Amino acid sequence: MGLTTTKSAAWIQRDEKVIAPCQHFSYFPLTIQKVVGDIIFDQDDNQFIDFLSSASSLNLGSGFPAVTAAIKEQLELYSQYTPAYIYNTKNISYAERLTSVYPGGASAKVCFGNCGSDANDAAIKFARAYTGRTKIITFINGYHGSTYGSISLSAVTTRMRSKMGPFLPDIYNFPFYGDDLEDEVCERECIKELERAFEAYLPPEEVAAVIIEPLQGDAGLIAAHQIFMKKLYALCKKYGILFIAEEVQQAFFRTGKWFSIEHYNIVPDGIIMGKSVGAGLPLGAFMAKEEIMDSLPAPAHLFTLGGHALACAAGCAAFDYMQGEEFQHILAENEKAMERYLKNIMEKFPDIATRKSGKGMSRGLALTRRDSEKGTLIPDDVGTYKVLFRSYEKGLVIISLGKNVLRIQPPLNIKPENLERGFKIIEESIQEYLDGKITDEVLKFKKGW
Ligand SMILES: Cc1ncc(COP(=O)(O)O)c(C=O)c1O
Repeated sequence: MGLTTTKSAAWIQRDEKVIAPCQHFSYFPLTIQKVVGDIIFDQDDNQFIDFLSSASSLNLGSGFPAVTAAIKEQLELYSQYTPAYIYNTKNISYAERLTSVYPGGASAKVCFGNCGSDANDAAIKFARAYTGRTKIITFINGYHGSTYGSISLSAVTTRMRSKMGPFLPDIYNFPFYGDDLEDEVCERECIKELERAFEAYLPPEEVAAVIIEPLQGDAGLIAAHQIFMKKLYALCKKYGILFIAEEVQQAFFRTGKWFSIEHYNIVPDGIIMGKSVGAGLPLGAFMAKEEIMDSLPAPAHLFTLGGHALACAAGCAAFDYMQGEEFQHILAENEKAMERYLKNIMEKFPDIATRKSGKGMSRGLALTRRDSEKGTLIPDDVGTYKVLFRSYEKGLVIISLGKNVLRIQPPLNIKPENLERGFKIIEESIQEYLDGKITDEVLKFKKGW
C-alpha cells in the first residue's frame, strides 16, 4: 500500500521545527488541506472519510451550510465584541436555546468561555462558590482538558500531568464503573470505595461536587453503568453534593440525545460543554441551575473573547438544525446502520473485534489477540495501530483510544454511503492485518494515547 504524501511530508518537517510536540499525537502523516462535510482532503489531494469529526467537535461535519451562512452573516455585523462590557445578543440567543433543553426543564443559566477545558474550570469555581465547600470528586480515566483546573480533574495518562505540578488541591479520583460490568458486581462494588472514603478520610459534608463524564470518552468510549450512576446520584443527594455532568465530548446528539446524562434519568445540577457547542468554532460553556450560576460576581469567570459571537452564531444555527425533523431522521438512520456495521465486524472477526462500547454515534471497538502462552484474549495495541494505519491508507481517518480501542465518531449527518464505506475499510484492514499484510514499518508514525 502507500499513498502519495510528498507535500504532507514537507509540511510535517516544517511542523517539527516550529510546533511544540505537546500539541499533537501522531497516527499518520495527514496534513489538512480542506474538509467538506464528512470528507477530509490532505495536501496531496488524497481524500479520507472522517470517522473522527475533529474529536467530536464537528458533529455536523465541516462547512455545514446553515452554520457557514450564520457565521458569514455575523461577520458582516461584527466579528466579536467583548461581553464583559456590553450585552452580546448572540450570547443571549444561544443561552436561551441551551437552557431550553436543560434536562428536566430546570431553570438554568449559562457561563460562556473558550473551550471545554475552561468550562471544567468554571464548574469547579461555581461548585465551590455555591456550596462553600472545596473538595471535588472525579473519576479515573476521565479527560477534562488542559488548563490547570481541568488537568487537575483528569486522570487518563500521566503524560499530561508529569513535570508540571502541583495541581489544584482537594480533587479526588475514584474508579468509574462501565456498562460492561455485570449488574450484580456493579451493585456490590461500585460505591464501596466512595463510602469507605467518606468514613475514612473524605468528609462528605466538605465535598462540593461530583464531576463525571456519563460516557467516558478518552478512556475508550465507555458508558457508565446505570446502577453506578443511580447510586452515585443518591449519594450526592444524601450529602448535598452537586452532580455535574461533563458533556464536552458527548453532548449535541453524539449519543443520540442533547446530553448523554439523559440516558440516566438524572437531572444534573450542572452541565459542562465544549467542542460541538461552537459547531466547529472555539466555545465552551458551563450551564447550571439558576441559583448555582448566581453564586459568583463579575469578573469571577469571564474572558475577553469568551462566548465569541461567531461561535455563538454558529452554535445557534447548528442547534436549530439539530432540533428539526430532517436531522433527527438522519441521526436515527445512521445510529441504526452503525450498530449493524459494528455487529457485522464482530461476527466476522470474533477473536479480534471482541467488544463494542459507547452509545449512539460515539462508539468504541476493542481489538484483541490471543496470548500465545495463556491462550486468553489480550488487548492488541500493535494490531489496533496497524488497522487504523491501513484504514488511513485506504481513505479513512480513524484513531485509537487507550491501548486498543478504535474511536468511531463520524459526523452525525455522515452520508450513509460514506458510513458504509468507512466500516468496509475497517473490515478490509482487519483482514489484511490478520493476513500479515501490514508490516512493522508503519509503526514509526505511532505516537498516540
Ligand atoms: C470529555 C472532555 N472534556 C474536556 C475536554 C477538553 O476540551 P478542550 O480541548 O476543548 O479544552 C475534552 C477534549 O478532548 C474532552 O474530551
